Amino acid sequence: MWRWRTDDVFLEIGCGQGQVLAKALACVVEAMLWEAGSEGAIPSEGSVASEAEPSFLPTLLGVEVCPDLCRQADNEMRKSMEKQSTYFQKEYRRIMTRREMEHNFTPELRDFLKWKILHGRFENVIAEKVDAANSNSANSAIDKIPLTEVTKVYFFLDSGMTEIISPILNRYLPVGAQIISCDFPLDESSTARIKLQWKLTIHDVDVFGYQVVEPQEHCDELCVL
Ligand SMILES: C[S@@+](CC[C@H](N)C(=O)[O-])C[C@H]1O[C@@H](n2cnc3c(N)ncnc32)[C@H](O)[C@@H]1O
Repeated sequence: MWRWRTDDVFLEIGCGQGQVLAKALACVVEAMLWEAGSEGAIPSEGSVASEAEPSFLPTLLGVEVCPDLCRQADNEMRKSMEKQSTYFQKEYRRIMTRREMEHNFTPELRDFLKWKILHGRFENVIAEKVDAANSNSANSAIDKIPLTEVTKVYFFLDSGMTEIISPILNRYLPVGAQIISCDFPLDESSTARIKLQWKLTIHDVDVFGYQVVEPQEHCDELCVL
């Protein structure tokens, strides 16, 4: 449903046991391998191994109110990171060999793909202002959600929660950000910057795809929070 970019910042609101986050991880790994196959991520000629960092910097964030589910999601992501790291290294080497690129540097997934499961209610863990500590999406010490940097949001919540989060997404998400809401549409009355792009029904569940289309400058006029 989405085309993944290597600099995406993905947020799942109510990440439960972390299965969707693990799927998102697999998607960004494929996007990174795709980029590795193009000019962008290849260390430039003459650069030393330690300087030859890949350009990609995706981040995966989950927030979950239930502490037990948080722990499960954390475990799920640790397992998935291990599996994906092995896969990534193998594929990265294969791509470099195919391109006849000499490489004495194989990136470690954990060095540039950051993830974090935050415990709490989404509406209480938003960074109102993105300060230095939170502005770097590579910072694993993230303790609040830098919503102004999030490019993809997914959630499967009840209608009450969907209504609560609608104006928050409308206020903070950057233009171009994509949103998928399962089961319930966003509250139209509080999402003037956000437009519905598509709607599908999968196994009797309605799935709504949105995009933020108006820049944030217009937010004060358009926001009802
Ligand atoms: C229907 S489950 C969806 C789980 C997972 N996202 C999925 O699609 O399989 C909803 C999840 O949202 C969590 N949740 C509900 N309200 C929340 C809130 N305000 N902040 C964070 N998580 C919340 C619940 O604990 C539950 O795990």
